[in-house]
Amino acid sequence: KVHRATTTAPVNIAVIKYWGKRDTNLNLPANSSLSVTLSQKSLRTLTTATCSESYTGPDSLILNGEEEEIQSSKRTQACLRNLRQLREEVEAKDGSAPKLSKMPLRLVSANNFPTAAGLASSAAGFAALVRAIANLYELPQTPQQLSLIARQGSGSACRSLMGGYVAWRSGTKEDGSDSLAEEVAPVAHWPEMRALILVVSADKKGVPSTAGMQTTVATSSLAPARFKDIVPARMAEIEKAIQDKDFETFARVTMQDSNSFHAICLDSWPPIQYLTDVSRAAMNAVETINRKAGKLIAAYTFDAGPNAVIYYLEPDSRAVAGVFKNHLPRVEGWDNEFGAAIRSNEM
Ligand code: DP6
Repeated sequence: KVHRATTTAPVNIAVIKYWGKRDTNLNLPANSSLSVTLSQKSLRTLTTATCSESYTGPDSLILNGEEEEIQSSKRTQACLRNLRQLREEVEAKDGSAPKLSKMPLRLVSANNFPTAAGLASSAAGFAALVRAIANLYELPQTPQQLSLIARQGSGSACRSLMGGYVAWRSGTKEDGSDSLAEEVAPVAHWPEMRALILVVSADKKGVPSTAGMQTTVATSSLAPARFKDIVPARMAEIEKAIQDKDFETFARVTMQDSNSFHAICLDSWPPIQYLTDVSRAAMNAVETINRKAGKLIAAYTFDAGPNAVIYYLEPDSRAVAGVFKNHLPRVEGWDNEFGAAIRSNEM
């Protein structure tokens, strides 16, 4: 008999960025972060987990059609070990429950967007992996409890187990037991929110985020101020903006924090540069849109790559998305109703 569970997990895009770890083994962040979960209609990872007594060999993962080397991946192993432990608890309580924890796992996962293009694919990937296995194992844990496991796969993944506006609390405990995700507001709280993804490049990014943030922590003289004072103040400010549905504050803080993150990247040694001329053109376009409107109606943010995510409210669709739709390069595989490198997102 083959036991099976299939699930999807969404991408999240941080408006307060996670960039730096206080513990690399447990994957604990140097600061809290906050993200908006995107609709699964546009970006998601689909993962199927199966296990069977008849399977031989070690656990395996096929990602976008290619076998991944997971035996040597400490992060994947940490997730699998944690999930098996929880399944053992289920089996210990219910003697008749099948001993799934003893069977090899086969995982098959696919994104509907380019992997490692700075589109937080590891976030959706590890969230889907953890959710799929938790479903297969019929675990009673809440999304928040599972976020502790997903965090060990990839930090940003802990924010993809919930919808809407999600904070990852850095926590203070050494064992990481309070470093988990928390829903700040559900998507229905602010249903007008939209995200536009400008795919500047679907290529693999330069410096992977894990390595990049290590360099920043070790060398940036600006980073400590960001971790200690700047981000905590911004977390409070943006959480209030979300509660109040105050888009102008949300937009300003989002842009300031993206710029602060890219500033500590540039301040690292060797310097890390993710933004390109096309990224900067998108920043200028947002500034022009906001100047014309006489208020902030659009906000840009960039992760560890050149692609822009633009947040705006639905009533401003024409003024924001309309401006971008004719002015961007075409990227292979990214045609949509605009015929351009844009994915608009209804959340
Ligand atoms: C720029 O979550 O990919 O997207 O924990 O090392 O896997 P690891 O890092 P990862 O870093 C994401 C960095 C970011 C900002 C963010 O999503 O908060």
